[in-house]
Amino acid sequence: MTGNRTDPYPLTVEYVDGVVVLLDQAALPGVERYVRCEDWQRVAKAIVDLEVRGAPAIGITAAFGLALAADCSDSGSADDLLAELAGVAEALVATRPTAVNLVWAVETVLAEARASGGSAEDVRLAVTSAAQRLAAEDLATCRAIGDAGAGLLDGVDEVITHCNAGALATVGYGTALGVIRSAHRDNPALHVWADETRPVLQGARLTAFELDRDGIACTVIADGAAASVLRGSSVGAAIVGADRIAANGDVANKIGTYGLAVVARHHGVPFYVAAPLSTIDPDTPDGSVIEIEQRPAAEVAEYRGSAITPVGAVVHNPAFDVTPADLVDAIITEVGVLRAPFGPAIAEALGR
Ligand code: MRU
Repeated sequence: MTGNRTDPYPLTVEYVDGVVVLLDQAALPGVERYVRCEDWQRVAKAIVDLEVRGAPAIGITAAFGLALAADCSDSGSADDLLAELAGVAEALVATRPTAVNLVWAVETVLAEARASGGSAEDVRLAVTSAAQRLAAEDLATCRAIGDAGAGLLDGVDEVITHCNAGALATVGYGTALGVIRSAHRDNPALHVWADETRPVLQGARLTAFELDRDGIACTVIADGAAASVLRGSSVGAAIVGADRIAANGDVANKIGTYGLAVVARHHGVPFYVAAPLSTIDPDTPDGSVIEIEQRPAAEVAEYRGSAITPVGAVVHNPAFDVTPADLVDAIITEVGVLRAPFGPAIAEALGR
């Protein structure tokens, strides 16, 4: 792997020598291996199969997928190449509908490609440099989110999180786990309760993996244990990431987030959402219109290939839910901490 990072956790995604290289998150924590994508279709498959996941990470991966498509294309004119990339972009965006970072990253890269003018080679260079820049910015953005939110955890020794909004869900450092990392610098006693996050177990497999790498104390609990943990311990904050934040502050995130927010409010525990501005979708007025991805029934009905439900059991498997803005105490972004009323706070943060 390349890169000049000193982080203890592995790199989530990079584009090196015409190959998109991904840490295979479907195999973690048991096996640490990399997937090498040599065409954009393999990139799309990696996103669908959750070999790479997490809203910012899939956005950057799709951006690299476009770079790969441009580099592999034999289109000789800029117009032909741009038309081909528009088709690839559409296919990449269709892989996972809820995370707005995917659309945002692909549209950002395409806009720069269209503005590059000149030859097909100019388009190729523009696509690759835009994708590489977005990747570098993602890491810097996560560090800024971490530092912006760390103060919210002053005096907090116990925090709960859901899913994985960490280094693995981004290019590095993470959003919710970025805030935890920054707070941990000042308070090494900080302890994290990690919901296991049924059905794909991003909390048990990935959050526990990367916090262990970072030397941050972590206890994994079944999702159903969160309520009694919040009642019976001194948890001082809940903090999660987001896949899409509507203009009014409603938050789509991993299924189970809404339940955690309800329980946190019931127990007087502040509920924080950490996300880059690219996760805020000003064109989505509220959470009711966010498309929620439905995942295969087998994720619920099977465990490691073995059935855990009766044959023919009916399964409902939404990948995400929506937490209403009134259950959110703050949204932590790279430009600072946003508070209710979120509509105007978001508009100001986005410069609208
Ligand atoms: O299905 P996943 O694993 O992609 O879901 C990920 C989440 O819900 C994360 O909390 C969200 O993408 C934020 S990642 C910084």
